[in-house]
Amino acid sequence: MCGIVGYIGENDTKEILLNGLEKLEYRGYDSAGIATLNDEGVCLTKVKGRIAALRESVDSSVQSTMGIGHTRWATHGVPGIINAHPHQSASGRFTLVHNGVIENFNKLKKEYLSDFDFVSDTDTEVIVQLIEKLYQKHQNTVTAFREAMRLLKGSYAIGMIDAEDHETLYVSKNKSPLLVGIGDGFNLVASDAMATLKETDQYVEIHDKEIVLVCRNFVEVQTIEGAVVDRKPYTAQIDASDTEKGTYSHFMLKEIDEQPIVMRKIINEYQNEDNELKLDADIRNAMKAADRIYIIAAGTSYHAGLVGKEFLEKLAKIPVEVHVASEFSYNMPLLSEKPLFIFISQSGETADSRSVLVKIKEKGYPALTITNVTGSTLSREANYTLHLYAGPEIAVASTKAYTAQIAVLAILAVDTASAKGFHLDFDPMQELAIVANAMEVLTDQKEELEQLARDYFATTRNAFFIGRSSDYNVSLEAALKLKEISYIQAEGFAGGELKHGTIALIEEGTPVIALATQENVNYSIRGNVQEVVARGANAMIISLKGLEEDDDAFVLPHVHELLTPLVSVIPMQLLAYYAALHRNCDVDKPRNLAKSVTVE
Ligand code: M6R
Repeated sequence: MCGIVGYIGENDTKEILLNGLEKLEYRGYDSAGIATLNDEGVCLTKVKGRIAALRESVDSSVQSTMGIGHTRWATHGVPGIINAHPHQSASGRFTLVHNGVIENFNKLKKEYLSDFDFVSDTDTEVIVQLIEKLYQKHQNTVTAFREAMRLLKGSYAIGMIDAEDHETLYVSKNKSPLLVGIGDGFNLVASDAMATLKETDQYVEIHDKEIVLVCRNFVEVQTIEGAVVDRKPYTAQIDASDTEKGTYSHFMLKEIDEQPIVMRKIINEYQNEDNELKLDADIRNAMKAADRIYIIAAGTSYHAGLVGKEFLEKLAKIPVEVHVASEFSYNMPLLSEKPLFIFISQSGETADSRSVLVKIKEKGYPALTITNVTGSTLSREANYTLHLYAGPEIAVASTKAYTAQIAVLAILAVDTASAKGFHLDFDPMQELAIVANAMEVLTDQKEELEQLARDYFATTRNAFFIGRSSDYNVSLEAALKLKEISYIQAEGFAGGELKHGTIALIEEGTPVIALATQENVNYSIRGNVQEVVARGANAMIISLKGLEEDDDAFVLPHVHELLTPLVSVIPMQLLAYYAALHRNCDVDKPRNLAKSVTVE
């Protein structure tokens, strides 16, 4: 979490920093700040709240050719001006922004900084004071910066300016994302290339623990030992217009609407000219060689993994376990002899997943990452990558990445099944094309879904989503969507499990939304709906064409039974969207959250 931008060059620094921070706001938005340097010294502006407030507070008359900016998702210390970044050393010489968590900040404070007065509650202030302390000893900024980086434990992406040096931005990272952007007569740093695409599409990766000196006309990457590293820039493959809302009022709605296009893009990318499925032979071999798959993910990506398990087990007949990354990391189950790990992550930066990746790599196990972000940490560090081709997902609530993950998992399962010689009685690409059309039909039914959202969620305190079999997996995602953006307490439940305790929560008017897309459990889920209606619930059934009954609130177009999660989730996303909208919630930037969760 947290977003960082830094710039050095001839253009209007504060404007570039503010524009970049606006694009990075998805990473955290509780407070923000920028620091620019000119002949008068460092000009620091910090606010509680969003970049819009920062823009209003910044002194527009200040000219400068270098600076750093930050948008924060609080880890240490409440959101507010005192804890907002940039932080300054006691003398004011060093000014620094940080994304990550310094695990040993208390120890460093006690061991090295007992003579310093701290103004904030952050771990970040320890870094900048430590650099000042080490500068007192070495009288050299690069050496002090390097020594400080050596002492840090935890995750960090750091940008620093030295008030006595107008030629260099000091940069380093470990575990948290940070890129250097290369320009003509300027250079910059950013947590995500999306932030600075207007300035450049040329980026250089920074590897963990490297130190980078970013100057106007050159960039020097060094190892922590000081050896110079030669690394070529790459071209960021992001269309700048994909990062704009266009005529939409919210990114979330735009991204929901993009799902049919993403489906078609995936079909295209994973087919050759003869319309045959094409997957990297190395991935196919790795899948074939595995005796068990371990899917590791968080949040919505974890929910996509649950759907993927069903595909892989039913089609490719490989046993699959799906684990929440933050749990797996510290409580590994007994592993099979030839495991293959699949990491699912929209951002490719989720710290919980990365922590598992690091641990399983130490054990020598192979890993495949399924991600939306080319060049992300999880993609770089795994043996293989499958891309989602969903385009930038900016709303905090994940929508198109979820359906893209499911589609790519379906393709992976089909490819593995055919590699293992199993015959399928359907054409997967044809079925995905039908899904794309069905998605279009659903995204055209906004008015109906908006009305349902008003009827069911306008004033409720809580809600339940129930389903059986793969509908249960979608219920979990539906509940997450609703709670994260509308703040309604929502739970996804297996239809048959309610009566084992949770049914006690059903009161007069409690909304219960049931999915009925699976023929073998159609009657049982309808029975579960009767049970809650008998206790006063305000229930609605969303069913699949062919299984529908007269009173069903909404009927989904027919698609292949295995692929129903790809369509049943769409009304759930729209219900959540309209519920949040009508409750005056900030749909794209819900409270307490951030898009990319880069702390454990
Ligand atoms: O980038 P990732 O897919 O690894 O992110 C995982 C979760 O943080 C993410 O899916 C989160 O649950 C979303 N906000 C849900 O909409």
